[in-house]
Amino acid sequence: MRLLSRILSTTRVLWPFYIGVIVCSLATAAATLVSPFLIRDATDAIVSTVTGPGGDDAVTKATRTVFWLVIGLLIADLTQTLVHNVGGYLGDVMTARMREILSTRYFAKLLSLPQRYFDSQVTGTIIARLERSITNVTQFLQAFSNNFFPMLLTVGAVLVITAWHYWPLALLLIIVFPVYTFLTALTSKRWQKIEGKKNEQIDTAGGRFAEAIGQVKVVRSFTSELREIAFFGSRFVRTISLTREQSSWWHRMDALRGGILNVIFAGIYMVLFLRTLHGDFSLGTMVMLIQLVNMARQPVMMMSYLVDTAQRAIAGSRDYFHVMELDPESRTQPELLAAAATDSGEVEVSSTGAARRSRERAEAQKAEGAPIVDFDRVSFSYDEDKPVLTDVSFTAYSGQKVALVGESGGGKSTIVNLLLGFYAPSAGQLSVIGSDVNDISGSDLRAGSAVVFQDAALFSGTIRENIAYGNPDATDAEIVEAARKANADTFIRAFAEGYDTTIGERGLKLSGGQKQRIAIARAILKDAPLLILDEATSALDTKAEREVQHGLEKLMEGRTTVIIAHRLSTISDVDTIVTLADGRVDEVGSPAELATTDGIYAELLRLTASASAADRKRLQQFGIKG
Ligand SMILES: Nc1ncnc2c1ncn2[C@@H]1O[C@H](COP(=O)(O)OP(=O)(O)O)[C@@H](O)[C@H]1O
Ligand SMILES: [Mg+2]
Repeated sequence: MRLLSRILSTTRVLWPFYIGVIVCSLATAAATLVSPFLIRDATDAIVSTVTGPGGDDAVTKATRTVFWLVIGLLIADLTQTLVHNVGGYLGDVMTARMREILSTRYFAKLLSLPQRYFDSQVTGTIIARLERSITNVTQFLQAFSNNFFPMLLTVGAVLVITAWHYWPLALLLIIVFPVYTFLTALTSKRWQKIEGKKNEQIDTAGGRFAEAIGQVKVVRSFTSELREIAFFGSRFVRTISLTREQSSWWHRMDALRGGILNVIFAGIYMVLFLRTLHGDFSLGTMVMLIQLVNMARQPVMMMSYLVDTAQRAIAGSRDYFHVMELDPESRTQPELLAAAATDSGEVEVSSTGAARRSRERAEAQKAEGAPIVDFDRVSFSYDEDKPVLTDVSFTAYSGQKVALVGESGGGKSTIVNLLLGFYAPSAGQLSVIGSDVNDISGSDLRAGSAVVFQDAALFSGTIRENIAYGNPDATDAEIVEAARKANADTFIRAFAEGYDTTIGERGLKLSGGQKQRIAIARAILKDAPLLILDEATSALDTKAEREVQHGLEKLMEGRTTVIIAHRLSTISDVDTIVTLADGRVDEVGSPAELATTDGIYAELLRLTASASAADRKRLQQFGIKG
């Protein structure tokens, strides 16, 4: 019940649907209740005519009565048919609206969560959870709204009518409900526990499924298809034994409930038949009471169905509400928070002006000669006991290029994560484009940076759409201009459909170099004050790298840039090199300065010049190619 009121209160906007569905279902129940009375009158009229003194007059009179009673039955049935279908229509639309609202909110909520949440989640699992939660919840609500209120009405009416005719009958009927509900509640706890375990298995399988399909090349290249299938299948195998346990428990209890119900109904029939035999009920009344009593049997059964769907809904919605209760990233933009509480899937995409604000801040910083990036004794760790960065300090002024050099796993990408506000520094101060990262919303912070990651990560869709991801308001001319600067225009035009060529999911139909150049065009189009390149070309072969490098140089022109390079030649003309060792800054200086000390950069320069195997190996630890 708490779950129900919770869902209803979070989807208050749907109240007209709730009322409509309830009214329709009540009307359906009322129309159904009329029939037994009409049938009683018809039965009595027929019986008295057939067993009476007879005569044409009596037959004609009874025929007329029966005729009108049948018309009455027809009207009642037609009303029921009509209203039932109107209610069904309202129920369908209500369900679709609810799915729209709950799904949109879930997606918005996920996108507002701190990066840490995603560190420990598998995509497919998140999706499976969404699907099940929402299906179960909407199914339950539909079943509930369609059945619960007519059930109440029917049961109430049946009890009153039977009590009026013979109160012990009503008493027998009344016993059924608490007994049934008690036994159901008893069943539910264990059922839910097993359902939770089953869902865990299914979610794990779903998560792996999405991963395997998403990285199908890796799966195939390691010929691990069968291993993947075995893993996937084994999860479902586990659900079988759980289902056996769950279902046998449910059905044993259901047999018990059903048995008790059958015994009570046998008693009811016995009473009905004996009373009629002794002349207390007319035949018509007996027929009517049998019908009414059978009407009460349905709600009892319905109740077990309702309890069943309610259990699924509770088990499923627990995950949903768990996610909805998580705290969003601190200082999430208000529009995103609003979307996570939206009453409709039609979310408006409003420009927050974050990009404009970041450019203004960058201008102000430049005018004051203040830094664009300023790390001041910044420390950070993902897990408390394992420091990744300690006391890191360096600055980049407007238009400057800073290169980060350090061993693989030394914390270079972590610095990028901090710059983008994915994680907050645990100590020290970090200001980006004049704002402390703790004082500014994630969206404002990120609007100021354009990032080219090592993995281009494109979306399915056309090349044009992918480039325009950097700025949805860009004109076609601007898109082409960005592609030209990224050295991508030529190869794009070589496709038969040019900019309208669709690329597969994550750009599977493009070569690594092509994808990366589209990613660069996307970053160029974003035109943000701060540029971040995290090993942007390390996934490419030498030829593709040269093509991309040209685009990157265009992108860096006059822009403040933080570069993580894997080739020393590409950072030989940066303004500052920051070398990292054990999460601490080892040296900071210009390439020329650092070349003459005996620090990491000097060592790397020496290693690059060397051809010995040991030196090559050492270079690899820095992710650096010769
Ligand atoms: N999301 C994360 N959660 C926990 N530890 C992480 C996470 N990302 C990176 N690390 C750890 O932080 C350290 C620095 O990683 P990273 O910044 O990616 O190194 P680099 O980019 O210099 O190769 C590594 O030890 C890595 O295992
Ligand atoms: Mg890295």
